[in-house]
Amino acid sequence: MANQLLKGKRGIIFGALDDKSIATKVAERCVEEGASIVLTNAPVAFRFGEIQKLAERLDCQAIPADATSLEDLENLIDQSVEILGGKIDFVLHSIGMSLNVRKKRDYTNLKYEWMQKTFDISAISFHKLMQTCFKKEVMSEWGSILGLTYIAAQRTFPDYNEMAESKSLLESFARSFGYHFGTHNKVRVNTISQSPTKTTAGSGVKGFDVFFDYADKMSPLGNAPAESCADYCVFMFSDLSKFITMQNLYHDGGFSNMGMSPAVLDLEE
Ligand SMILES: NC(=O)c1ccc[n+]([C@@H]2O[C@H](COP(=O)([O-])OP(=O)(O)OC[C@H]3O[C@@H](n4cnc5c(N)ncnc54)[C@H](O)[C@@H]3O)[C@@H](O)[C@H]2O)c1
Repeated sequence: MANQLLKGKRGIIFGALDDKSIATKVAERCVEEGASIVLTNAPVAFRFGEIQKLAERLDCQAIPADATSLEDLENLIDQSVEILGGKIDFVLHSIGMSLNVRKKRDYTNLKYEWMQKTFDISAISFHKLMQTCFKKEVMSEWGSILGLTYIAAQRTFPDYNEMAESKSLLESFARSFGYHFGTHNKVRVNTISQSPTKTTAGSGVKGFDVFFDYADKMSPLGNAPAESCADYCVFMFSDLSKFITMQNLYHDGGFSNMGMSPAVLDLEE
């Protein structure tokens, strides 16, 4: 269902790793809606070849960039402006990785060098990306920047580990930079807080499958799928959401406002 909501818009999409990635669905929907995009991911992600295949399919370019490297980000932004032929209208930050989670370190036994790397990859990269765009003056007026987050930033989900703090930081960067970008040239910055989704990053969290089912039962509408998250991103990149900024927006089938659900307690007939 394409309505050309992003016709003539130029965007950069971070984080499409494979066909399950939320960023892959967002890239597909943006192109369907008429946008021109550049895909990017960490150089290591290019080894798998999936991002190149996606770029071919969507007839766009894919540029490797480690989101923690200012040099890579500067190169990416310069190249994207040249390839797309003008200023950038939207950016998706869809990046998350925890070294302590990957190496199975519990929250009460974290390695701090890894924690710092986790924050750098999962949250500070969002600031670095925005600061690079800001300094280079590449965002169009009324442009839209989005980061993807999770409700563990507000509530405790023990197995989410240090990613909880990463997401709190990410959401805080969205609010603070949203002020600076808004007053500077009316660029909006928001985060979308997505339901558990079966992707590489999601499945790395301990007990993910059981938790996925729990969240699905707790949410009156069920877990929001990645495809619907992509629809929401399209709306947020479009001119239909011009005055929404500095928000953390729940896209979770109602989960965030639930206390208890009979479905979880198995009380339903
Ligand atoms: N899957 C879920 O349950 C869920 C729920 C809420 C929010 N999110 C968030 O959605 C976003 C996308 O994750 P996903 O679930 O699609 O998983 P994914 O594994 O497909 O995407 C994560 C991406 O981060 C990229 N990345 C890691 N290190 C990087 C670096 N240094 N530089 C550039 N890119 C780097 C990976 O290559 C990958 O493409 C993340 O921010 C994640 O925390 C996911």
